[in-house]
Amino acid sequence: MKKYFEIAKEKFEALKTKKDVVVLGIESSCDETSVSLVKNGREILANVVATQIEIHKRFGGVVPEVASRNHILAITNVFEECLAKANMTAGDIDAVAVTFGAGLVGALLVGVNFAKALSYALNLPLIAVSHIDGHIAANFLSHPNLKPPFLCLMVSGGHTALLDVQDYATRTLLGSTIDDAVGECFDKVARVLGLPYPGGVQIDRLAKIGAENITFLKHEVLPNTLNFSFSGLKTAVINYVHTQKQKNHEIALSDVAASFQKTAVAQLVGKTIAAAKQVGQKNVVIAGGVGANSGLQRALGDACAREDITLFHPNLALCTDNAAMIASAGYYYIRAGRGLADLDLTASPVVKL
Ligand code: KG4
Ligand code: ZN
Repeated sequence: MKKYFEIAKEKFEALKTKKDVVVLGIESSCDETSVSLVKNGREILANVVATQIEIHKRFGGVVPEVASRNHILAITNVFEECLAKANMTAGDIDAVAVTFGAGLVGALLVGVNFAKALSYALNLPLIAVSHIDGHIAANFLSHPNLKPPFLCLMVSGGHTALLDVQDYATRTLLGSTIDDAVGECFDKVARVLGLPYPGGVQIDRLAKIGAENITFLKHEVLPNTLNFSFSGLKTAVINYVHTQKQKNHEIALSDVAASFQKTAVAQLVGKTIAAAKQVGQKNVVIAGGVGANSGLQRALGDACAREDITLFHPNLALCTDNAAMIASAGYYYIRAGRGLADLDLTASPVVKL
């Protein structure tokens, strides 16, 4: 009798050229438990996302152990709901793609182990997907005609980077943050302003009604490089808030939000345009949760238009964590003949950018 991995390998080989490929995606890297079915990397058949936001809100942020436990409680139901929504059975799945990193190890392990069990039970190829590639692929689901090459601005809770994406399987890191990720910075600033978790979306909301009248940084951040830094900005906002409190001054939350967001966005826009010029890319895509930020979309859209660059960003629901983007990335891994994992696959807190 053939062993599991021999069968998986044979099926994986056949999928490289199969006409229609249905990938089941699984995502559990942070506080969203998500399972999705995607056809040919582009067509979402179902995408179920169970968020734990309400659970973590009272702690002011994600508590890793609580996240893991809630993934365990949710994942079977989310899987079954996904199949039901797509009106499919397990027999319709060609491969299982799962986020193996980056993220919270305990949280990732739930998805990874569920994916391993499913692959073994159904004799299906198991594809280990990087969360970074997932966020990039969210753009393939939102823009049917978008293809590499393009420049990608990756902006999430864990990463801030510029990637030169040459094709579906090849990308080069041009620059990344030397300290905090921009999403982390949004969340910390929101927290110091007393706004509920998750903070990024609250800052975005307040920034719309605030005045950009506070100067937090006097100098350009890491000039002439494509690396980012957000800890200085974060500290500047925290110091401002503390000083205002000490003086018993009322803090205009919306003005702080608007001024902070403008400063953070300016750094992202400046470096993205510089990178696009450096590598000669005329297409730029935004990826990751902060890609949902309306100020970033507007400012980068304007800057790209001035440079005759076309800007893409995922549909709002696909900016933040979801399994459809993992299934899409998994499909492109299969077509490129990479990512096949055996049952010893484990979770990784970090991945290569
Ligand atoms: O990509 P994501 O869902 O998870 C990670 O891979 O980290 O990104 C989450 C981050 C959080 O920091 C959250 O505050 C931020 O994305 N975020 C936003 C907005 N929506 C989500 N930041 C700014 N403006 C938004 N509208
Ligand atoms: Zn993410």
